[in-house]
Parts: sequence; C-alpha cells; structure tokens
Amino acid sequence: MGAVTLTQVRANRSPFPVDLLSECESALLLYCAAFYGRNDCVWVEEAGLENVTAVDVDSEKLAVMRAIYPDTWKFVHADAYTYRGGTHDLVSADVFSNQSDRALGMLDHWCGMARKFVTIAVWKEPTVEIPAGWKRRDLMFRSSFLGGCYWYILERQ
Ligand SMILES: C[S@@+](CC[C@H](N)C(=O)[O-])C[C@H]1O[C@@H](n2cnc3c(N)ncnc32)[C@H](O)[C@@H]1O
Repeated sequence: MGAVTLTQVRANRSPFPVDLLSECESALLLYCAAFYGRNDCVWVEEAGLENVTAVDVDSEKLAVMRAIYPDTWKFVHADAYTYRGGTHDLVSADVFSNQSDRALGMLDHWCGMARKFVTIAVWKEPTVEIPAGWKRRDLMFRSSFLGGCYWYILERQ
C-alpha cells in the first residue's frame, strides 16, 4: 500500500455523532491512531475543527497522521489514561474493547477535561454512575464488531 491519504481513511470510516461537532471548537481525541482516525478524527477534520489534540501510544501511526491532518492539530505520543492537556469542548476515548471497562471507570477523569461532551467506545449500555453535572445523551451504534460497538455519549447539563 502507498502513502495513506485522508480520502482513504474517510472511505472506511464508521459513524460518529457529528451533531456534537457543530457545538465544538476544540477536541481531545484519545486513542486516535489504529486506523488513522477513521472512527473519530476524520469526522472532526471534516467538521472543520482546528484546535484538536490527538493522543496515542503508536508513534508510527501518529507520524503518518501528522502528515495528513491539518497543521493546526497536535499529535501527542502519550499514555492517554494519564495524559492531561487542559480542557476541550469534546473529549473522546476510542478504546479497544478490552479497555472499555477501564475507560468507563474513569468518567470523572474524562468529564473533568471536557467542557461539553464525552464520547467513549462501548460494547453494551453502560451501568455506571454518571458524574454530577453530566447526563447520558445517547448510545450510538457504530458497527457490529464483536456483537455491536457503540459510542456512549455524555453531555454537560
Ligand atoms: C480502537 S483503536 C483507536 C482507533 C482510532 N480512533 C481510529 O479511528 O483510527 C485503540 C487505540 O488505542 C491505542 N492505545 C492503547 N493503549 C493506549 C494508551 N494507554 N494510551 C494511548 N493510546 C493507547 C492503540 O494504539 C490504538 O490506536
């Protein structure tokens, strides 16, 4: 395969709650790299957000992404569980299925960095305590991978 392009990544994208993005000026996209952002980054790019930080531990894929996404975006090689980069309108955690429970156990952490919305990859409706000042907005179907993958969406009240 030749160089990865945004057109290729977009062609394979899975659904994202784009309605959130019209209310956002900044985004923190955690766990961003495995598919070069087909689950999240391409939607945020298409919505025109310029103030975006994308975090992953895969330095090779981050290098590819740096070359194809807008110059205003920051790509950070870091452990997303402990990364702290200020606040953003949207904080998204696109974890692998075996990390979903861990991510759901950190709602206080994600909501603490988000001004408006938090999105987390889940495989069933979560039964978790939602932080004070936040509420469940939606459970959005993404794909049938492993029986059904969804975005769990929280919004600030
Ligand atoms: C489901 S994939 C993300 C797919 C990505 N959002 C996309 O659309 O291409 C999960 C990602 O989590 C990353 N990852 C796993 N553990 C991590 C950690 N502790 N900190 C940051 N990234 C991590 C993996 O490298 C992988 O890119």
